[in-house]
Amino acid sequence: VTAEKGGFDHFMLKEIHEQPKAYRDTMLGRIDESGRKVVLPGLKLSDEKIRSLTSVHVIACGTAYNAGLVGGTAIEQLVRIPVMNDVASEYRYRSPLITPETLVIVVSQSGETADTLAALREAQANGAHVLAITNVVGSSIARDADDVIATLAGPEIAVASTKAYTSQLIAFYLLGLYMAQVRGTQSADDVAHVIAAMHSLPEQVESMLAQADTVKAYAEQIASHEHLFFIGRGLDYSVVQEGSLKLKEISYIHSEAYAAGELKHGTLALIEEGVPVIALATQETVLEKTVSNIKEVKARGADVMAITHEENVPDLLKSVDQALAIPKTLPLLTPALSVVPLQLLAYYAALARGNDVDKPRNLAKSVTVE
Ligand code: AGP
Repeated sequence: VTAEKGGFDHFMLKEIHEQPKAYRDTMLGRIDESGRKVVLPGLKLSDEKIRSLTSVHVIACGTAYNAGLVGGTAIEQLVRIPVMNDVASEYRYRSPLITPETLVIVVSQSGETADTLAALREAQANGAHVLAITNVVGSSIARDADDVIATLAGPEIAVASTKAYTSQLIAFYLLGLYMAQVRGTQSADDVAHVIAAMHSLPEQVESMLAQADTVKAYAEQIASHEHLFFIGRGLDYSVVQEGSLKLKEISYIHSEAYAAGELKHGTLALIEEGVPVIALATQETVLEKTVSNIKEVKARGADVMAITHEENVPDLLKSVDQALAIPKTLPLLTPALSVVPLQLLAYYAALARGNDVDKPRNLAKSVTVE
């Protein structure tokens, strides 16, 4: 069994460590020889169709939904087209406004999630082109979708999804760049710049994995708590939603991910002496705002851990208790790095609590019932 786990104690840890390979494999064959352009061989979505689109819906469940939050922002920023995210179990029952000019992107690791499959059918029945981002090419969702962008993460065994999430981000970045090329919303140089940064991500993840001990020590500190908060703004908010889901799933510590600016609209009431708050502060344009939110929770006694870039650490340490530095990339690509310490945090917290990391209670890897 240890051999199956490649020498790791759990599939989840093995899969976290497989992310650099998953990034490389998901990019492979999808960048042209010049290294400046995205190519998506086999894509049925024509240039004409891409030009005619008026909206994009991103539909999924759980972690795949969280990946879609980042992916939706990437598409909105790169393509300047309205994007709407929804969970499949809501979307399918609310008569969403779907037209033939809507691109519906369904995201699913397994490709078998019942709600996502039903949402796909609902979208097709309304004339939308459905593109699936999935890790299983022979799956029901891959079969029924009009287009598939396969994530090449390899089999994911642990119930808590890690490498599938990050590979989904890579697939979204590629799709966003591709659509931007067709619609001319980004210059060739800008596209090349993003691609170059994407090529550095695998090594940057490796460097973070080499420093897992810092996260482990922090995980052991929070393991005795029953409630904690994650805060962030913009893409950091999307990433902490995934961090919070991961932590709840396997450590059973209750956590809430909050848009940092929303704290004072309610959640602040729950902050008292010693409550751990994990602040993700990587998005430079809103950094100052996040820092002022950190000060709000500090003033109420929270114990704050900030995850940020090296250059911000000295300043942030004036307002937080601990800080963890992550490597720098473009703001849009940062989720592909910043989620890694959150995955490790969930893993080590679950471990410290003696939980069955790979098979958390009440959860199944693939939810094929409604
Ligand atoms: C992820 O850690 C969860 N186990 C769960 O939220 C999962 O992402 C969700 O059920 C969707 O699964 P899918 O990607 O296979 O469709």
